[in-house]
Amino acid sequence: MIAAIRGGAGGIVAKTVSVIPAKDPRPTIRKCGAGLLNCETWSEASAESFLDAYRAIKREGVPLIVSIGYSPDDVARLGKMLEREVAPDAIEFSTHYVGKSLDPLLEVARALRESVQIPIWMKVSPSTPNIEELAIRAASYVDAFVAINSVGPALDFDIETPHATLGSNNSFGWLSGPAIRPIALRIVSQIASVQPKPVIGVGGIASGADAIQFFMAGASLVQVCTAAILKGASVYGAIADDMKTWLEKHGYASAEDIRGLFLKNLNNAN
Ligand SMILES: Cc1cc2nc3c(=O)[nH]c(=O)nc-3n(C[C@H](O)[C@H](O)[C@H](O)COP(=O)(O)O)c2cc1C
Repeated sequence: MIAAIRGGAGGIVAKTVSVIPAKDPRPTIRKCGAGLLNCETWSEASAESFLDAYRAIKREGVPLIVSIGYSPDDVARLGKMLEREVAPDAIEFSTHYVGKSLDPLLEVARALRESVQIPIWMKVSPSTPNIEELAIRAASYVDAFVAINSVGPALDFDIETPHATLGSNNSFGWLSGPAIRPIALRIVSQIASVQPKPVIGVGGIASGADAIQFFMAGASLVQVCTAAILKGASVYGAIADDMKTWLEKHGYASAEDIRGLFLKNLNNAN
């Protein structure tokens, strides 16, 4: 996390922690095309063991967003503890393992909303059906949406050595990186179109141009994971610099000026 800040990240979203630490099968991550496949679940370390690291990030002076999961009881308990012990700028909660029906997802949002005062962000999984209905209904509980989590389950292996590549069942994993960017853009645009809360775009961003696409699709912020794993933490500063150069070259004062540009043009054309 410190390396990401040194590399130019404007804020940190920490690894998801839950009440029970995960036990991930090995290997957990594999390169796949221009991206990654992973079978990590959530952190194998406890939330309590992260407290010192969270406080160190706060001392760096950048926004800290902690990430938690999964059940209503889990997020209520962890949310209260983290708000009291760390006072992060926001709490992101992962819906990745909560299932696909909307009511349980909304229950988690409500439980966290009733447990903490600080902003809460709902991380949306691409397999959620009825994304627009979810966004409309969850908007009364959450302060922002984060879209999207990795896509899958997916499979990849080498034809010269066609064996298991990940430690998970059937070697299935979650896909991230450039291949999922169009799916992420579609979901960001859907959430931004149907409700007023900010949307944070994530999925395959590796350049300033990629980030600009997300702002034009309605995002107010972006996150980057896979590109930093593959290219190193300096990717954060490089993306921000590229964006600034592009905006200046096109006569825009800030990213705010291009937010939703694509959606506006779409509406004008319809
Ligand atoms: C190795 C790895 C671990 C991840 N762990 C988490 C996690 O703990 N919680 C979470 O919400 N998303 C997790 N993600 C998903 C990313 O936060 C992000 O939503 C997704 O990978 C798409 O963005 P990207 O293409 O920039 O990586 C993980 C992704 C990768 C590659």
